[in-house]
Amino acid sequence: MNKRSAIIGVGSFLPEKIITNHDLSQLVDTTHDWIVSRTGIHQRHVAGDHEKTSDLALAACKKALKSSGRGVDDLDFIICATTTPDQIFPSTSTRLQGLLGMSKGFAFDIQAVCGGFIYALAVANNFITTGQAQRGIVVGAETMSRLLDWNDRSTAILFGDGAGAVVLEARDGAGSLADFGILKTFLHSDGQLNDILQMTEGPGSGTCFGTMIMKGQDVFRHAVEKLGGAIEEMLSDTGLTADDIDWFVPHQANERIIDALVKRFDFPSHKVIKTVSLHANTSAASIPLALDAAVMDGRIKKGDLVLLDALGAGLTWGSALVRWG
Ligand code: UT7
Repeated sequence: MNKRSAIIGVGSFLPEKIITNHDLSQLVDTTHDWIVSRTGIHQRHVAGDHEKTSDLALAACKKALKSSGRGVDDLDFIICATTTPDQIFPSTSTRLQGLLGMSKGFAFDIQAVCGGFIYALAVANNFITTGQAQRGIVVGAETMSRLLDWNDRSTAILFGDGAGAVVLEARDGAGSLADFGILKTFLHSDGQLNDILQMTEGPGSGTCFGTMIMKGQDVFRHAVEKLGGAIEEMLSDTGLTADDIDWFVPHQANERIIDALVKRFDFPSHKVIKTVSLHANTSAASIPLALDAAVMDGRIKKGDLVLLDALGAGLTWGSALVRWG
């Protein structure tokens, strides 16, 4: 008998305010057509002045809990993947713990930027499969708009805000790929590539903030190569083929990156979940936002085999294979 972490609930939240490409073209020297042709992005949601990362995360967690049929008292942990915490400390997860009224268990943040949700899922899976916890929430929540230089057209067009959460619960499995829940995860990072996407400063280097800078073409090239490598790794380790995957849910950064992966592995386009046109890149929130969209509209169903794949600054990247339900 093997322990598995089943995903028993999912929920997400997007702030009401939308900034379209046309709106952006009033701020910087860009056009709707350029943004769509290079990224596939049409619009992004942006947090209002009153909205913090924890507000977005709280709304997503409440929806995920509701869909799971479990209550706050059933939870053993909250792991929040975020690069945009409300404060440097305490963690956004402990803030969430307080806001949810959860009086037991533990909570901490994970910072792996756009790779954060896969990292958090892998860590949560370890707590559950080793028997240290029965049930918990993994939430990816970001207010990336707060990190942007809105005068920099090379980055301002790419990001958006949002949150998505899943509830995980221990379940017995046979140890085979027919089990429900998280079947396998792989994590990677390469610190030699810190400088291709980074904030220029932070609290440990003198200034609390800094500016986001990116070597866009380098990130693009590494994303295609490393995300492809992670899919290859998952397929060869499990003995599966791309045909066996019911849904491919990649990190939503750039539609051209997703399309390059789809082409390489010959995923049929109707099996690929894309939300990038409406959400832009919401960093650690992008995968759970896409999952929730596809569960809500009835595409992802109980028993489906779902492949998740993400890459972020660091670089960090990884994949997860999940049998839904
Ligand atoms: O989770 C990871 C997060 N980051 C990413 O995924 C980013 C990965 N990289 C990319 O998505 C792409 O590199 C970008 C979308 C950022 C840029 O697309 P690109 O096709 O690599 O364009 P480029 O940087 O090579 O720029 C081409 C041209 C340049 O003009 P010149 O030098 O050819 O005259 C840029 O100055 O496009 C210009 N440009 C723009 N033009 C209109 C750059 N940004 C813009 C813009 N609007 N927003």
